[in-house]
Amino acid sequence: YLLLADAAIVEHTFHVGNLSVQRLGQSQVITAVNGQFPGPKIEARDGDTVVVHVVNLSPYNLSIHWHGILQRLSSWADGPNMVSQCPIRPAGGTYTYRFNVTGQEGTLWWHAHVSFLRATVYGALIIRPAAPRGRYPFPRPHGEATIILGEWWNTSVVDVERQALLTGAGPNNSVALTINGLIGAGGGGCGAAAAAAAENNNAAAAAAHQYQLTVEPGRTYLLRIINAALNYQLFFKVANHSFTVVAADACYTDPYHTDVIVIAPGQTVDALMRADAHPGRRYYMAAQVYQSLANATYSATTTALLTYLQDASDSHSRQEQEQQALMPTMPAFNDSATAQSFYASLTGLLQDGAPTVPLHVDTRMLVTFGLGVTPCAPAQTLCNRTRGSVAASMNNVSFQFPTAMSLLEAHMRGAPDGVYTRDFPDRPPVMFDFTSDSTTANRSLMFTSKGTKVKTLRYNETVEVVLQNTAILGAENHPVHLHGFNFFSLAQGTGNFNAHRHVRAYNLVNPQQRNTVAVPTGGWAVIRFTADNPGVWIMHCHLDAHLPFGLAMAFEVDDGPTPDAVLPPPPPDYPRC
Ligand code: C2O
Repeated sequence: YLLLADAAIVEHTFHVGNLSVQRLGQSQVITAVNGQFPGPKIEARDGDTVVVHVVNLSPYNLSIHWHGILQRLSSWADGPNMVSQCPIRPAGGTYTYRFNVTGQEGTLWWHAHVSFLRATVYGALIIRPAAPRGRYPFPRPHGEATIILGEWWNTSVVDVERQALLTGAGPNNSVALTINGLIGAGGGGCGAAAAAAAENNNAAAAAAHQYQLTVEPGRTYLLRIINAALNYQLFFKVANHSFTVVAADACYTDPYHTDVIVIAPGQTVDALMRADAHPGRRYYMAAQVYQSLANATYSATTTALLTYLQDASDSHSRQEQEQQALMPTMPAFNDSATAQSFYASLTGLLQDGAPTVPLHVDTRMLVTFGLGVTPCAPAQTLCNRTRGSVAASMNNVSFQFPTAMSLLEAHMRGAPDGVYTRDFPDRPPVMFDFTSDSTTANRSLMFTSKGTKVKTLRYNETVEVVLQNTAILGAENHPVHLHGFNFFSLAQGTGNFNAHRHVRAYNLVNPQQRNTVAVPTGGWAVIRFTADNPGVWIMHCHLDAHLPFGLAMAFEVDDGPTPDAVLPPPPPDYPRC
């Protein structure tokens, strides 16, 4: 607060509407912001206020979430549809999101939080250290680049979601991965290298289709990497270069040296990269699907190009640059050991003013994930009548979005009746052992109940949640994102969580803080946070199809005792249903 005089208001207007783009040789109409894909980059400093006027000119209901922003005392601006707000209506609806970024630095992002629209409605949200004296806790990089990883479909993503819900078969695979909205060279499995080589023969054509980053030899660059993909955890590498990870989810880490970045949907990684390879060559950066699903066969890769600034008069180096760019050697697409070791190696940077792990826990929860089937409800239109619908659940409750008003509005009225109930269970309703698939309990986890249940927390209560990945169908990693808080990621492992055995593995000294944790397939992760932010906050799987399937729950945090711990009333233009 000492630096308040230097705090600024960062103001944007987002016109959300149709944009026609060319990808994979065909033209496609997508929903996009201000005619840009990816959307505008928001750049702020710690302490600034961000104001975004959203004008919805699209044909869809819309809301926008500022992923990772703590939204302290501004739950109204958080964005998840029917949780913190009713949607901004199509054909001209407006809402102004207003929030402070106090106490946060690093790379975050924003995305639509309704239906599948976040497939194309997303952008970076960068928070730099406060002016004028704020510093990175690492040597100042010479330059920086934002690298947003995404997915591409050759059809309307709203149809893709309908299809997923109707067939109950999970989402259709996207046709390609993207880097900064561009598809680059790539494709399935071993086709990638060949496609890359083909693109290489025509530098101009390649430039139009793939992102290029130019660096100066010997300099260090900060890569701000965001996984905006809907369905895939990804590996990211740059040929002949390595990284020093310095932050994840906009929380600083101890410097961690690696040549591969592992990043789940919703997560971000800030990594320093020194341009110390032979400057006469060109290098691919590549993102590749990491499949945690044991029997998965799907794999895809995409690329962008890293080139070195060259002396134009040096014809020898120009010749060299025309050689084929070098492709990094990617991990096997199902290399879980590499993924686990990346996550396990990250520790939080201890520095003045950084929050420390709460050592006393008021509330302990064990939350299991289920991915099973339920019969269609009579009124359910998007449901396969014979097979039933895929229902994902937490503690056997498949989360239903309310329809009459948002959870937050109901919470603020103090009268949740008819909108939600306060009985989200602290533990699964049955004893289970998901490593043995024959028990009745395991089967009963497949058939979930539906409901809009929240867990109520007192202001400042400390909460530990064991996330147990029991998913019966589709045993894969589930990236769980908590709105409104950063949590400490204390430990993770495989098998059934065992309190007596696994508590010894907790890092209570310098655990990584995050907003999204990839809970391992057939395993568990333990998170801890302090409920110091009044409002309603959803916790959900960031594999996008799993949200409408119901792999979610919500926390309701009461106001605190002092005026600075009371959620103010909603802004006048707050969308109502
Ligand atoms: Cu990035 Cu609830 O989402």
